[in-house]
Amino acid sequence: MPDMKIEMERIRREPLPRRTAADIQERVSGLMARMTLPEKIGQMFQTTHWSGIVTGPEYDTHQTLEKVRKGKIGSFQGLTDNQVIYQLQKIAVEETRLGIPLLFCLDIIHGCRTTFPTNLAMSCSWNPELVRKSISVVAAESAHSGVNLTFSPMLDLVRDPRWGRVMESNGEDACLSSAFAEAYVRGYQQDNLSGYDTVACCAKHYVGYGAVEAGREYNAVDLSERVLRNHYLPPFAAAIKAGVKMVMTSFNTLFDIPVTANEPVLRGMLRGDLKFRGVTVSDYSSSAEIKCHKIATDDETVAVKCLKAGLDVEMMSNSYINHLEAAVAKGRIPATLIEEACARILTLKYELGLFDNPYKNIYADPEQNFQNSKYRVQAFETACESAVLLKNDAVLPLGTDRKIALIGPFSDSKDVIGAWGGKADWNATVTLKEAFEDAGLPFIHERGSNVYDGLDATAATRAAAAADIVVLAVGEPGNLSGEAASRTCLDLPGVQNELFTAVLAAKKPVVVVIFSGRPLTIGDWIEKTQATLWAWQLGTESGHALCALLTGARNPSGKLTMTFPRSVGQIPLYYNFLPTGRPYMPENPTEMFRTHYVDLPNEPLFPFGFGRGYSPFVYGAMKTDKEILKPGDAVTVSVDVFNAGTYDGAETVQLYIEAECFSVARPVNELKKFAKRKIKAGHSETFTFSLDSDDFAFWNADMVFISEPGRYQIKVGPSSAELQMTVIVLSLTT
Ligand code: NOJ
Repeated sequence: MPDMKIEMERIRREPLPRRTAADIQERVSGLMARMTLPEKIGQMFQTTHWSGIVTGPEYDTHQTLEKVRKGKIGSFQGLTDNQVIYQLQKIAVEETRLGIPLLFCLDIIHGCRTTFPTNLAMSCSWNPELVRKSISVVAAESAHSGVNLTFSPMLDLVRDPRWGRVMESNGEDACLSSAFAEAYVRGYQQDNLSGYDTVACCAKHYVGYGAVEAGREYNAVDLSERVLRNHYLPPFAAAIKAGVKMVMTSFNTLFDIPVTANEPVLRGMLRGDLKFRGVTVSDYSSSAEIKCHKIATDDETVAVKCLKAGLDVEMMSNSYINHLEAAVAKGRIPATLIEEACARILTLKYELGLFDNPYKNIYADPEQNFQNSKYRVQAFETACESAVLLKNDAVLPLGTDRKIALIGPFSDSKDVIGAWGGKADWNATVTLKEAFEDAGLPFIHERGSNVYDGLDATAATRAAAAADIVVLAVGEPGNLSGEAASRTCLDLPGVQNELFTAVLAAKKPVVVVIFSGRPLTIGDWIEKTQATLWAWQLGTESGHALCALLTGARNPSGKLTMTFPRSVGQIPLYYNFLPTGRPYMPENPTEMFRTHYVDLPNEPLFPFGFGRGYSPFVYGAMKTDKEILKPGDAVTVSVDVFNAGTYDGAETVQLYIEAECFSVARPVNELKKFAKRKIKAGHSETFTFSLDSDDFAFWNADMVFISEPGRYQIKVGPSSAELQMTVIVLSLTT
């Protein structure tokens, strides 16, 4: 066996041709004319190269090499070792009959080696352009580590923080998530898939997965078609418009049929309505799981149902590779469906330049491509904009002259990457303590406890008492969120409450810094302390960013993209709920027969869109340039925002609408536009938005997507709960 490292060093890297669609189509047709049916089916099988898999079949690595040799595998997922990738690609190119290259896919969702904040955290920047730039770094590092396609962006809308996967999402709103969907696709693919710095990407989990019942992973989903179309589909539509190359089907049922075998949802909505022309892939053995959903009893039927529904690539289960040929022979499924799927897969491989250089980006020493200083600056800036300041009773910024006690399990923890860390370099991750040291802050450090054990209450109280102010770093370990990490209790786990009591005993001002993958129900912590900075999981530059925010070197500008409930009992809780027949009257809280709880207010702990900085922003009166909006026209909405503080900052102005009387009840608020701008201390900026009649469209009672004429409230403000309002009328007559 030759030394693979030396072979890999010889891989050529000259620019690859940018092939036209017509050129690719011709090449695909030519190649397919030479392929046998089993070879075509081979392209539709995606597997991995290691065993120990929880669901699906066991893998024998030797057998896998044999399958590649026979053209029975089209793509791999989950491989991180370049030598293995090289070995497999070499077999595919040199030892198979037609030399078709393999496609290597991996989940790299918020950072490869340099890690960025979790996706939910990044969405709190309300800055899609910043995220696009960050994702282009993720793309470059991923590509240069031998990955051709990443299973990202995750575009599920999330309304239930019990679900561990909320950390992968862009939060609860369709408009915001759609803006980020486009940013991700442009960041990963950059309109040049044959480049060396780009990867193809995959929108997931199509569709409705964010609505799993009770927030429990892999659970069923029950959504009305109108809710699906109005809220859950638009981010996918935005990704498709931006050119996303792959869409992953979700594990859940929708309209009582698992999406992976759901023809109206795949061929109907995805290919038909949303005009998706790329490749569909199942989620990890979700095709075989349709037997558990009880809509198939044998693997041949699994293959027939999934292909008929519109599934191109089967990930990690064997129904296509083992049964499609027989199903065609028996007349259970037309071979044309295989032809179409195979053509889409080969097209993607051509677009990626894999036929021109199958070893593209397979380096003997991939480390040379990672974590350069520009990437780390981008990670730092993104982390600064992602954290959210939720409370500040004039104790922040810390400045540099007060003596600080830095306490808590997350004060020196590197567990700030979050789930799906990819190939994250944990050692290079900066903790809060390291950042305080780098900044030369006057501080004493006392861990006080780990998350689950090691409580030293006396030491924690002593450290707090010896300082002017406490920074208490607590949170959720990374493994409590992400896939298969649903929780029923959204508190701070372990002994952290005891640690809190010990710190409070010193009676010093306390700033809590909270690391988490999701919103937590910790109102009492917030009440009893003077400031709260929500850190989420900020990645490689976590410590530096938090230190910059705490000391005022950076002004916090993040705003929540998921509603924070007071209690798990309020879930699902989201800002764009429908009005009820008996709305709660805050002015008459004792009125019995109105929608309310007897033990808690209806309102969340913190609303969608909420976040503070060190400068108060004062909003002027909003202006609209017309009261009646006619077809083909647009209304301009503007508002002046004044920075009344002493810190330069950035404000995100949010524009919502409320439809007053239409064929269906519509949410009390719907986000339609937002903009984030820097505003210097003592200065004003004018934010201007334009709304045309399409911005009011909705799937109505007849399931028609239409802007119904009538009165709409236009609302503008710093969050979904602090809005000023005016009314315009949408007219049908010109
Ligand atoms: C299962 C997850 O649901 C999905 O998000 C991921 O992309 C695949 N596994 C592949 O790892």
